[in-house]
Amino acid sequence: MANHRTLILLLFTALVGCFASADSAPTAAKPAAQELTPPSELALMMRAMAIHADSVKAAVKRDGELPPYPKAFKNLLEAEPTKGMHIDPITFPTFGKDYQLKLDRLYKVKKGERTQAYNALVQSCANCHGTHCPGPLMRIKKMYVATE
Ligand code: HEC
Repeated sequence: MANHRTLILLLFTALVGCFASADSAPTAAKPAAQELTPPSELALMMRAMAIHADSVKAAVKRDGELPPYPKAFKNLLEAEPTKGMHIDPITFPTFGKDYQLKLDRLYKVKKGERTQAYNALVQSCANCHGTHCPGPLMRIKKMYVATE
């Protein structure tokens, strides 16, 4: 289980870092070079946020229980970003609080409204990534649950 998770994390990192190119597959050498510097507190939180969203998606699809409420994401606005990364003083906190509101809402709504609440959460990821760190946008766009 632990190994499996590590592998997923590695694959994940290779595919979705901030500087992942949107239109070409990453080469084997590129992600390795990126990993020479340890990921920032914010980057690690993002990976956890993406894993959390994926497990919410799985739960929503099979109408099961949500994963435990992720209290750690309360520190989103305080987490240390990658050195040299520009964090906009207006849009980052605005989109960050919106994500937190959508997260709280997801845990409050009735089961029947979860798909919509989950998609609103994914939208809040996409909104922030429109102005910060565009690399993961392709992946984020695939995270929505189709509604009929
Ligand atoms: C408030 C803005 C904001 C929100 C909301 C946000 N992100 Fe991010 N995301 C960032 C920034 C900024 C970085 C770059 C962090 C760094 O390198 O320190 C990042 C990095 C990432 C990364 C790359 C992490 C790595 O390994 O380097 C992924 C994947 C990611 N975000 C996915 C998501 C997902 C999925 C969501 C929603 C569940 C989300 N983000 C919500 C701003 C945001």
